Amino acid sequence: MKVLASAPAKIILFGEHSVVYGKPAIAAAINLRTYVRAEFNNSGRIKIEAKDIKTPGLIVSFSENEIYFESDYGKAAEVLSYVRQAIELVRDEADANGRGITVSITSQIPVGAGLGSSAAVAVSTIGAVSKLLGLELSNEEIARLGHRVELLVQGVSSGIDPTVSALGGFIHYENGKFEHLPFVNLPVVVGYTGSSGSTKELVAMVRDTYEDIPDIIEPILAAMGKVVEKARETLLLGEDGRWKLGRLGELMNINHGLLDALGVSTKKLSELVYAARTAGALGAKITGAGGGGCMYALAPEKQSEVATAITIAGGTPMVTEISREGLRIEVVVP
Ligand code: MEV
Repeated sequence: MKVLASAPAKIILFGEHSVVYGKPAIAAAINLRTYVRAEFNNSGRIKIEAKDIKTPGLIVSFSENEIYFESDYGKAAEVLSYVRQAIELVRDEADANGRGITVSITSQIPVGAGLGSSAAVAVSTIGAVSKLLGLELSNEEIARLGHRVELLVQGVSSGIDPTVSALGGFIHYENGKFEHLPFVNLPVVVGYTGSSGSTKELVAMVRDTYEDIPDIIEPILAAMGKVVEKARETLLLGEDGRWKLGRLGELMNINHGLLDALGVSTKKLSELVYAARTAGALGAKITGAGGGGCMYALAPEKQSEVATAITIAGGTPMVTEISREGLRIEVVVP
């Protein structure tokens, strides 16, 4: 038997980092996906084939007679630890320890870009392997297992990424509880800085600052929570009327400033954010953990201008759409 499953990337629209402290956040699935094929093997071992997982490419530098190869193999290894934990967790649930399983992964989601590549790989692996082992799990149960995988690998995680990846659409998330918000077709442009940030390290850095100066950091996190609630009210009003999009843009800009105050922005992220705003975006902010990775802009009728401005500022634009669908079992071959 073979199973092919896929799960989407996400953008956090509002509330990254503060969500780790129990504040609400809003995220949406986007139409970049990770595909995982699972089948049995006779070795009793777990085998992972990852031929195309969009890890940062090869960097080569030269001096007179020397060639230096620099590559971030650590990122690929990190992805594989999510896959391994996901398979072990599902084998455990299915009482199938010792069963040989091979998974093959291909992904459209750049690793370490803040687009939830780890959650998408965990969720699609759990989806494929649970189907292979005959476990009937709902997408909500798969999201919870995905959260356990993140906790095992990262130590800290709010669980928002696996929830959005498993369930798709727009999600309002708070303390492990989620609500689907009505679908709106937001005209967004994602800008990739080309460098990656480590969610684990950035979450730990914010934690250190919080512990050091809680009287300063707590009000910032509280303000982020209020921004999210205002954004939820605005999204619930629906998509008719530009002023509502204008309000969302304004809230994005405030959220970006607060993230900058937490220290998770970089020069490049801010350059892309300001380039997008100058080109006519209603709002622009970091999405995800920061420290590199991606920003996104809200740009009704200005998507191509904003994409060009991001390119000129040295980023890679991705004109993406919000995806209604979360985890998908694509094919089952008996
Ligand atoms: C990462 O996509 C979002 C963070 O808030 C971490 C988390 O929620 O687990 C930075």
